[in-house]
Amino acid sequence: MSKVYVMDHPVVRHKIDYIRRKEVGTKDFRQIVGEIASFMCYEATKDLKLKDVRIETPIASMIGKELSGRKLAIVPILRAGLGMVDGMLNMIPSAKVGHIGLYRDPETFQPVEYYCKLPADISEREVFVVDPMLATGGSSVAAISMLKEKGADHIRFMCIIAAPEGVALMQKEHPDVDIYIGALDEKLNEHKYIIPGLGDAGDRIFGTK
Ligand code: PRP
Ligand code: URA
Repeated sequence: MSKVYVMDHPVVRHKIDYIRRKEVGTKDFRQIVGEIASFMCYEATKDLKLKDVRIETPIASMIGKELSGRKLAIVPILRAGLGMVDGMLNMIPSAKVGHIGLYRDPETFQPVEYYCKLPADISEREVFVVDPMLATGGSSVAAISMLKEKGADHIRFMCIIAAPEGVALMQKEHPDVDIYIGALDEKLNEHKYIIPGLGDAGDRIFGTK
């Protein structure tokens, strides 16, 4: 069974509850989504492995540390996941970035795939799939299945707000994928929007409504 981490950080909580407010405009929303992604990236990379390396400071020689193990990749689920990429890259600037295009059909709520472009060596990387919203879980489950078909086998999923329904589906379909959540909300409404949530993340990031 995958592990589920819900952020327990006052600054993250403050920022998430700030952007939930309907009066927050596109510019602030987009900026703060990036800031939240940086905080979450810090948490989600806490267990990355280090190895010893000898380094020379201007003063002395010492055994220091550097990251070892797999190189990293960030894969946003388009569109809204794009809003988290720069914040992640602020923390892990050498990560490669892939893109998966999916949208949720407004009638059936099923994910529809329209794009997939990944780093050629994705199967050798530790992959962070990012999307601000985990609602039914259909989009993230489909995106991770696409990644697995391309050979990725070390995958983590990060979202800013999740519904319990989405977490349950993810754990059922991808029990090997740990989930990092900014805030775990109550449930979905009849349109499969998260309650209380923040509305449509893509529209709020890009100002399309
Ligand atoms: C949103 C969100 C997720 C998906 C979550 O994307 O960014 O990808 O819905 O819902 P689910 O868990 O029920 O699948 P949307 O389909 O609105 O597309 P967009 O990012 O292009 O706006
Ligand atoms: N997608 C969103 O952007 N928001 C929700 O609440 C659910 C799906």
